[in-house]
Amino acid sequence: MKTPRKLLVTSALPYANGAIHLGHLVEYIQTDIWVRYHRLCGHDCVYVCADDTHGTPIMIRAQNEGITPEALVARVHGEHLRDFQAFGIGFDLYYTTHSPENRALSVAIYLALKEAGHIAVRTIEQAFDPVKGMFLPDRFIRGQCPRCGAPDQYGDACEACGATYSPTELVNPVSALSGATPVLKHSEHYFFRLADFQDFLRQWIHSGVLQEEVAHKLEEWFQAGLQDWDISRDAPYFGFEIPDAPGKYFYVWLDAPIGYMAATQHWCAQHGRDFDDYWRRPVTEGGAEIYHFIGKDIVYFHTLFWPAMLKGAGYKLPSGIFVHGFLTVDGAKMSKSRGTFINAAAYLRHLDPEYLRYYYATKISPRVEDIDLNLEDFALRVNSDLVGKVVNLASRAAGFINKRFEGRLAADLGEDADLYGELAAAREHIGALYEAREYGKAMREIMALADRVNQYVDQRAPWVLAKDPAQAEALQRVCTTTLNAFRALVTYLAPVLPDLAGRSAAFLSLERLDWEGLAQPLLDHAIRPYEHLMHRLETDRINAMLEDAKQELPPAVPASAGVQPPISDTIGIDDFAKIDLRVARIRNAEQVEGADKLLKLTLDLGGETRTVFAGIKSAYRPEDLIGRLTVMVANLAPRKMKFGLSEGMVLAASGEAGGPFLLAPDSGAAPGMRIK
Ligand code: MSP
Ligand code: ZN
Repeated sequence: MKTPRKLLVTSALPYANGAIHLGHLVEYIQTDIWVRYHRLCGHDCVYVCADDTHGTPIMIRAQNEGITPEALVARVHGEHLRDFQAFGIGFDLYYTTHSPENRALSVAIYLALKEAGHIAVRTIEQAFDPVKGMFLPDRFIRGQCPRCGAPDQYGDACEACGATYSPTELVNPVSALSGATPVLKHSEHYFFRLADFQDFLRQWIHSGVLQEEVAHKLEEWFQAGLQDWDISRDAPYFGFEIPDAPGKYFYVWLDAPIGYMAATQHWCAQHGRDFDDYWRRPVTEGGAEIYHFIGKDIVYFHTLFWPAMLKGAGYKLPSGIFVHGFLTVDGAKMSKSRGTFINAAAYLRHLDPEYLRYYYATKISPRVEDIDLNLEDFALRVNSDLVGKVVNLASRAAGFINKRFEGRLAADLGEDADLYGELAAAREHIGALYEAREYGKAMREIMALADRVNQYVDQRAPWVLAKDPAQAEALQRVCTTTLNAFRALVTYLAPVLPDLAGRSAAFLSLERLDWEGLAQPLLDHAIRPYEHLMHRLETDRINAMLEDAKQELPPAVPASAGVQPPISDTIGIDDFAKIDLRVARIRNAEQVEGADKLLKLTLDLGGETRTVFAGIKSAYRPEDLIGRLTVMVANLAPRKMKFGLSEGMVLAASGEAGGPFLLAPDSGAAPGMRIK
């Protein structure tokens, strides 16, 4: 038995302003597999994570929803946790950065850095929204691209031509919050002097904590020279106030990684553990090894700012930072318009989460490559590997053991002990592959063993042995060997497929499956009756999920979006009077064949009936609409649509927070009443 190690493992903290999607899960599943592997080996491995809750986008989103940021982050925390649990992500703690521990640690680290002279104060000039009374992050300024002239581009980069620039260069800039023209305004900002850590960082990034390719990439940053990092933001801001700096807040990226420590601290308090074991005591003196799993987009924060902050404030440094690539679906970036932007929740409505865990595992390597979810290959792999090669072994062998041998395994494997020995001996190698995050190789290795076992079953043909009473002993031995092989395969898959492993352990009458336990085969041991362990993946479920994902209203919002369109220019009362708004009763509502978004409504205007096609199918079932009152534009020119003539329009609200929400008058209103 190897000496148990003490590990602290983290995944990046997801932003609290969007749903968990299949891209995120590349990271959380990957981390969880690593953690589960270490636990199976008997190591003391703690896995913490949290929601990343601070910043302007979350503040704005809460405003738009008419709730406090605290209420928003509490709601999203519940949604994130629910999705993670459904995917079997075994956090020891899923915390929040909006916590008392995080506030105290952020302040303490900041003060330590300040004390040591690593904080500089400078006045900078920045875009300010005079209507909203706040400074605008680049992403909240829109205007014409200074290079190609494309309209309505973000303040930092043009989506049309790819140019990057500063928001002051935008032509005709407007605030995305109010539509006002931003003005330049001075403000004092606090900077972390990263260059103070130049020598330390340069040595540290090459000390083996980073993948080669990551360290190599970072060299480019050093060549460009390390810049001071702006760690403050002006009020209004949702975050922690900076001590002795009224109206100034820590930038979200300052307190976010400190959230790893805050979560550890909270967990330690819950479990009577010593925080310093994790974040101060060196590994050489019995302290925990710290590992961060992150995506390639946040390398700079984790490999330069974060180690410099830890170093400057006297904390321990991580033992490893593991960077992974991004998810593509069928070879392209996830896209809302292509319907491949799939939220965790949409997936879960249709498919078993362990399918995805396995498929990702077959694709994951320790390199920073993007990984592709090819939906056809996905179904194929799951069915041919998991169902075809592994689960089938159990179902084939269990029947004979249960029916012919009262559920008891043979007392020895005889000549087949060699095959079992070969399987059990693979644990060293497969373990090393997990450790090295070579999950793809590990899966191939496990499936190669499964192929061996299937060949063995085909050669011994238990179904033939079963016909000859004189061969009973051989039959029991072959089935016992097969079930022992199944146990080894499922143990090897256990970090990836914890549910399957749990069900298999129950079927084999074992408390749990463990790595070292494979040294001894199960002999003269009673198993339980076989129950289905895993279903085939039906491809129509994938299509149903895609359809669902397309319908699903606003999925994850990128960190910096979440903005409502500006209120339009004013109109006169005469303009408004041109619109004839009426109360209408929905007499009938039905699906429209071939239309993804539309329902066909029959509206009663108090004497007159109209047919209207409304894009509300994603949010309403026709039967729930019949009889309801709503509001329609009665004098809209009729429009010929593919499905028929639409004679007006019903009113519905929608925004980042959801929708469409059909408008309805208060009770008492009657069909035909005019709205003015
Ligand atoms: N809040 C920051 C992290 C702060 S850590 C102190 C953040 N959040 S995120 O929600 O945008 O992303 C969380 C993690 O998921 C990141 O590591 C990110 O790289 C990863 N992924 C987000 N989208 C992804 C894909 N499409 N594909 C793979 N990983 C992706 O960044
Ligand atoms: Zn451009």
